Amino acid sequence: MSNSFKAVILAAGQGTRMKSKVPKVLHKVIDKPMVDYVIDESIKAGASDICVIIGHQSAMVKAMIGDRVKYGLQTEQLGTGHAVMQAGDFLKGDEDIAVLCGDTPLITAETLKKLADIHNAQNNSVTVVSMILDDPTGYGRIIRSGENFEKIVEQKDATDEEKACREVNTGVYIFKGADLTAAFEKLTNNNAQGEYYLTDTLEIIKNNGGKVGVMVADDPDEFLGVNSKLQLGEATTIMKKRINAFHMLNGVTLQDPDNTYIGKDVKIGEDTLILPGCYIEGDTEIGSDCIIGPNSRITSSKVNNCVTVQNSTMINAFVDNYTTVGPYAYLRPNSKIGEHVRIGDFVEIKNSTIDDGTKVSHLTYVGDSDVGKFVNFGCGTVTVNYDGKNKFRCKIGDNVFIGCNTNLVAPVEVADNAYTAAGSTITKDVPGDSLAIARARQENKEGWRVKTGK
Ligand code: UD1
Ligand code: CA
Repeated sequence: MSNSFKAVILAAGQGTRMKSKVPKVLHKVIDKPMVDYVIDESIKAGASDICVIIGHQSAMVKAMIGDRVKYGLQTEQLGTGHAVMQAGDFLKGDEDIAVLCGDTPLITAETLKKLADIHNAQNNSVTVVSMILDDPTGYGRIIRSGENFEKIVEQKDATDEEKACREVNTGVYIFKGADLTAAFEKLTNNNAQGEYYLTDTLEIIKNNGGKVGVMVADDPDEFLGVNSKLQLGEATTIMKKRINAFHMLNGVTLQDPDNTYIGKDVKIGEDTLILPGCYIEGDTEIGSDCIIGPNSRITSSKVNNCVTVQNSTMINAFVDNYTTVGPYAYLRPNSKIGEHVRIGDFVEIKNSTIDDGTKVSHLTYVGDSDVGKFVNFGCGTVTVNYDGKNKFRCKIGDNVFIGCNTNLVAPVEVADNAYTAAGSTITKDVPGDSLAIARARQENKEGWRVKTGK
């Protein structure tokens, strides 16, 4: 008995109720589009291959998801059954076919695995996941005769008696591929919506002599379908709770979990403290014993151990041990900050390396620069890296002292142990151990006020 399966993920619908220019499945829950969660969990559950059915704004959906999946194109949205048919040859072969929706981002790999296991253990032709809801309005109802599956009836086609049934279809199934393909031959669109319902294939399979199993879900939250921005907000709240619980159980301290947003793929070490108002996203990795926040945004960055980041923004940056960042610092892409560095208030770093022990304490821009160890930047330093057409680099050696309000006009090098005088605009290389002064000499016109009669 094999557990191996492929997954078809439905994502062709427009999602009219989102009231948005963006296709529904691309709306983000925290930092990732909904459909990405469904793909990730399918892979985690062991899906050997994935086919996403796209239609509405297909180019945009495809561009966002990329080439880690195959695609089926449904040019006209004629129903969920018709959508699965567009997977074509993908449905052929010995492996089972799981069907999921791109708009149910809360599904977990554990549940998918359990579904595949039950499906195999019971040797079913198809197994559908159901859930029991207090208010089943809108969902397809699971109609049973006694314990046995009878059929699924959509809300719009249901009688009053059927509508009273609280066991509903989650829209997640696993099929024996051959039984599904055979059922498609008999599928019609003879219903209230004139659509080819995937749900009808279960009754067809049963009538063809196949065995239909039902797995009742433990946690209906996993199958929350997002059809509106209200439901997107609900899904975000549940996802945030789940992710934050995971980190807290791993030893991360979240002072205000309700007000902390951490992406699904973020890794955080033990005894790191996250203060309120942080947004940590992408493939960010944070070490242990750090203090992050309050109010910091960290995107796809790597932060090592014992680092403090206060009220700051970081994108694609690297920060090494014992360094402090902020308040109000901005580390832009390709900033590499060493150990025991201080990046202070209103400092912006871009595409630069700052080596160990250096201090850039206030009101400074360092762009396209390579800075050595134990350098001190005076307040208000600017690396002038752009001449309107091209970008150039600055090189600053070890133990350099940059005076306040220095402009370093790139390309320029300040060698080891050199000093620049405050207010200098440095346009020529500064040799090691020297002092560069590049500013007009001060002249005092004595008695000037009296002479000019001001
Ligand atoms: C569907 C089920 C219903 C179930 C519910 C669970 C059917 C007929 N009904 O209803 O029993 O309770 O899900 O959430 O299957 N899609 C396409 N192409 C289409 C139509 C839909 O790709 O032609 C996609 C949508 O983009 C969406 C998914 O299929 O991701 C579900 O479609 P939707 O119209 O939301 O189905 P429901 O009415 O919710
Ligand atoms: Ca739906």
